[in-house]
Amino acid sequence: MTDHTTLQADLTARIAAAADLAALEAIRVEALGKTGWISELLKTLGRLTPDERRVEGPKINGLRDAVAAAIADRKAALETAELDSRLAKETVDLSLPPPPERRGRVHPTMQVMDEMIAVFAEMGFALAEGPDIEDDFHNFTALNFPPKHPAREMHDTFWLPEDETGQRKLLRTHTSPVQIRALQQGQNHKLPGWIASSQTPPIRIIVPGRTYRSDSDATHTPMFHQIEGLVIDRNIHMGHLKWTLDTFISRFFETSVVETRFRPHHFPFTEPSAEMDVKCDRSGGDVKIGQGNDWMEIVGCGMVHPNVLTNCGLDPDEWQGFAFGFGVDRLGMLKYGMPDLRDMFAGDVRWLDHFGFSAFQAPNPATGLS
Ligand code: PHE
Repeated sequence: MTDHTTLQADLTARIAAAADLAALEAIRVEALGKTGWISELLKTLGRLTPDERRVEGPKINGLRDAVAAAIADRKAALETAELDSRLAKETVDLSLPPPPERRGRVHPTMQVMDEMIAVFAEMGFALAEGPDIEDDFHNFTALNFPPKHPAREMHDTFWLPEDETGQRKLLRTHTSPVQIRALQQGQNHKLPGWIASSQTPPIRIIVPGRTYRSDSDATHTPMFHQIEGLVIDRNIHMGHLKWTLDTFISRFFETSVVETRFRPHHFPFTEPSAEMDVKCDRSGGDVKIGQGNDWMEIVGCGMVHPNVLTNCGLDPDEWQGFAFGFGVDRLGMLKYGMPDLRDMFAGDVRWLDHFGFSAFQAPNPATGLS
């Protein structure tokens, strides 16, 4: 009995005198730790008779509670004192300049896409989108790729495993499947988000998006970006296509001197098909548009093949049109002088700091683009 009272008085006095949190913690361990005074006392209860335990139990438990409460009180007091002294010592120097803030940059591909979309939007094109995971029908068959035709292999397609219906989907190899989705007059619109609006001719859309081919070198990456264009109306001919691309190129490169040429090419979904080259100067480190004597391929295009129109339920004698597909990343390399396409998707922030764009750039007064 006396022991407990003395112990309690002794501990309470030491707790009250503890100068800091570390000293207080030492006392707590000494008293209430696993092998502390009070813990040892509690263990002795097991050896007592039930009658003794009835007397001793409450005393020891009372001792423990009193000591724990004293420690908690002292701890709160010490913490308050510590905070008060820090508040008294520390001051905020409002005259210090703020540390530099890390700002994100807009990726060149996204910048170029926005610029391209702005130019086409001004020319009256609406925006449409389609899924990255496509089926064979939209990516190939409806676009007039004959079954088992080598042209299918030409695209180095990423095929997905068979689904539960036995169908093998794929990562779209180009944005051209969205031509089909747009031409099918809205029957795929059950999928929310695809295609801007129900499209019946006349159609004038551009389709920005990601595309995929199993390919990797300085000018090819397995994922890249395209912008597809599709115009369907009555009496559309190649002159419209040439004007549209020429006008786009001069606005996009902000130069009135653009010389372009059509070079015959083959795409299953256009007839005739062409690649358009732009005259440029490649003699220096980077390519300059509007000068020089070199030609550089920048877009695949052509008149929409009658079979594509028929596949989508349109009468080719009534409707004609043209389509084109730009490689967005490549156009960005050309405009902003980036040497290797693979760097664009390597995720190196130093590269992005260098080639990226400010999200808060003021619009260019000449073009209205930022
Ligand atoms: N889809 C073609 C490609 O990826 C480009 C293209 C689009 C060609 C539209 C003609 C018309 O290479």
